[in-house]
Amino acid sequence: MMTSITALSPAKINLLLKVMRKREDGYHELYSVMQPVTLYDNITIDAGQGAGITIECRHAELPVDRANLAYRAAELFLDRAGAKKRLSITIEKKIPVGAGLGGGSSNAATVLMALNTLLAAGLGEKELMEMGARLGSDVPFFILKGPALATGRGEVIERIKLPGCHYILINPGFQVSTAWVYGRLGLTKNLENNTLTYSYQAFDGCAEIRDRLFNDLEQVTAARYPEVSRLKEMLMENGAAGALMSGSGPTVFGLFEEHGSAARAFEAIRPRLDAASSIFLVQGVEGPTGAPDGPA
Ligand code: C5P
Repeated sequence: MMTSITALSPAKINLLLKVMRKREDGYHELYSVMQPVTLYDNITIDAGQGAGITIECRHAELPVDRANLAYRAAELFLDRAGAKKRLSITIEKKIPVGAGLGGGSSNAATVLMALNTLLAAGLGEKELMEMGARLGSDVPFFILKGPALATGRGEVIERIKLPGCHYILINPGFQVSTAWVYGRLGLTKNLENNTLTYSYQAFDGCAEIRDRLFNDLEQVTAARYPEVSRLKEMLMENGAAGALMSGSGPTVFGLFEEHGSAARAFEAIRPRLDAASSIFLVQGVEGPTGAPDGPA
C-alpha cells in the first residue's frame, strides 16, 4: 500500500452569492454560484504505523493543531474509516487565509479525498460530502471538483457548467471573519423581504457571468473596509468586464474574457499594490480538479 500522497487544493470564488434568509439554526440560507480557480495549495500526506496527526505549514497565521480544518478532516476520516495511522500532513500555502477564497475548506476536502485514496477506504463522493458538511459549509463543494450551484447553508451542491473565464484576484492582506460578516448582515439588510426563489439559468459565456455578478455579503465587508471598493475600482479601470468581492471577503476579483487583457491588467495593477497585498492571475476551472496526483 502506498504511504504518501500529494494533491492540489484549489481556491474558489463566488460569482453569485444571494443570502435568502436567516435560519432557525443560526446559519443563512444561500443561493451561490461557485467557481474553482487555478490557485492551489499543495498538500502532502505521509501515513505510517502508530497514531497521531501532525500538520506542518510555513505560514505564520495558520494553526497546526485541531484549530486547523485539515487536522479535523484527518481526525474525522480516521474515525469514520476505523483506521489507525500516524499521519503527517504538509500544507504548502499559496491561497490567502481568511480571504473569502475557501482555502481552509478546500484543504479539508482535499485531505478527505487524499486519505480515501491513500488508505484505499473506498468511500463514495456522497459520503465524503456528508463528512465535509460536518467540517464546514463550503467543504462539500470542493469534493465535487468543479463549478457548482450551492444552496442550503452552502453544503447542498449541484454540478453546473461554467465557461472558463479569466480572473484577477486581489487580496488586501488582512483577514475577515465569515461569522462576523454574517452577523452584521442582519443589521444592514432586511432578509424578510428577500423571499424570492431562484431557478438556475445557465451562464453560457463570460458576458452572462458579468451581467449577474452579485454578492449580498459585499456591502457588509466594504462598509468596514473601504479597500474592497477601491480594489474593485482599480480592476474596472484596468479593463475588467466586472468586479466583485468573493465570499465574505476581503479578496476581490476582476472578470476578463480573454487571457491577453487579464495579463495586461495584472502587469498594470501589480506594481501599484502595497507589500501586504497579493495578486493572482487565474482561470475558472471547468472540470474536475484537485484530484490526488497519485503516489509520491
Ligand atoms: O460552516 P462554517 O463553519 O464555514 O461557517 C462559519 C460561520 O459563518 C458560521 O458559524 C456562521 O456564523 C456563518 N455562516 C452562516 N450561514 C452560512 C454559512 C456560514 O451564517 N450559510
